[in-house]
Amino acid sequence: DRADKEGWPTFMEKEIHEQPAAIAATLAGRCDADGRLALDEVRIPEAILRGADKVVVVACGTAFYAGLVARYAIEHWCRIPVEVELASEFRYRDPVVTEKTLVVAISQSGETMDTIMAIRHAREQGAKVVAIVNTPGSTISRESDAVLLTHAGPEIAVASTKAFTAQITATYILGLYLAQIRGNKFSDEIQDYMDKLALVPDKVQRILDRAESVRQVARTMTGATSVIYLGRHVGYPVALEGALKLKELCYIHAEGFAAGELKHGPIALIDEGQPVIVVVPTPRRPELHRKVLSNIQEVRTRGARTIVVAEEGDSSVDAYSEVVFRIPPAPTLYLPLLDVVPLQLFACELAGAMGHDVDQPRNLAKSVTVE
Ligand code: G6P
Repeated sequence: DRADKEGWPTFMEKEIHEQPAAIAATLAGRCDADGRLALDEVRIPEAILRGADKVVVVACGTAFYAGLVARYAIEHWCRIPVEVELASEFRYRDPVVTEKTLVVAISQSGETMDTIMAIRHAREQGAKVVAIVNTPGSTISRESDAVLLTHAGPEIAVASTKAFTAQITATYILGLYLAQIRGNKFSDEIQDYMDKLALVPDKVQRILDRAESVRQVARTMTGATSVIYLGRHVGYPVALEGALKLKELCYIHAEGFAAGELKHGPIALIDEGQPVIVVVPTPRRPELHRKVLSNIQEVRTRGARTIVVAEEGDSSVDAYSEVVFRIPPAPTLYLPLLDVVPLQLFACELAGAMGHDVDQPRNLAKSVTVE
């Protein structure tokens, strides 16, 4: 067993540290000699991809949050509306799905029953389904029109980590491919986006190299009974995922909020010592950065313990933060791949410090094969 973990104390730690390789493997071999994206697996006729009038992402759990991240990228690049829906809700609300709808099902296992039922419903309405799965030959991959594999390798820990970052990477590839086919972007722009994505694995590694600072803070939080996560723009789904990791692993009540919603309720929760983890946008997007900085000030004034994820060199956060986890600069749309890493490390370390089984949290299954 220890051998399978290759020296890591838990599968989760091993898998967190495999993320640079998982992202790189998911990116590998996607371009032809001219630098054009060539997704041979996506065997949906180009005319259909060009004619699609809407993308609907269906997924559960962490994969759903990967879908929320994907919306920002696909809408920005392709100018096509993207809906992201919990697979368990999708078919029950009589969704508007036609033969012009492109459904993207995201699933690590490819066996999540709600996601299977969602794609069956979508195909009955004539929609085409692209599956982003980590398990070749799985039910979802077999029942979809096309498959884009994440190459994260087997994920053993129940709480998903490397599958999540590989899923996000795959949605970026799909988004850029759609932009290429639909003529939204020139090939040199696509190549530039792909080149910058190829730099992400090294940046993730840089964060992992500094993991000890995250671990130290996590070990001081064993008494926490509630943790609030805030994020804006692509940082919002990261906040949701950070909170999910804490619930799953530490059994601590945690909730992610869109930072802009703070004043609409969550701020009432803040009192002395309340831990608040804030994902700060890059200062190169001042319109976003300024607002989140003021959110940190607002909770800090009310006595919150503020733990902040911010870009290297962004000293504006220092005065209002108990700790700052530093992230290398990257294009805004790619930041979730970096921002989530300290939050994974944090939950993993805190769970260990609380004496919980990190790989097999209570009551949870790796793959939920019932509705
Ligand atoms: C379970 C797992 C999660 C996973 C979710 C979706 O809840 O514990 O880690 O995100 O199922 O699973 P899937 O295999 O469809 O990605």
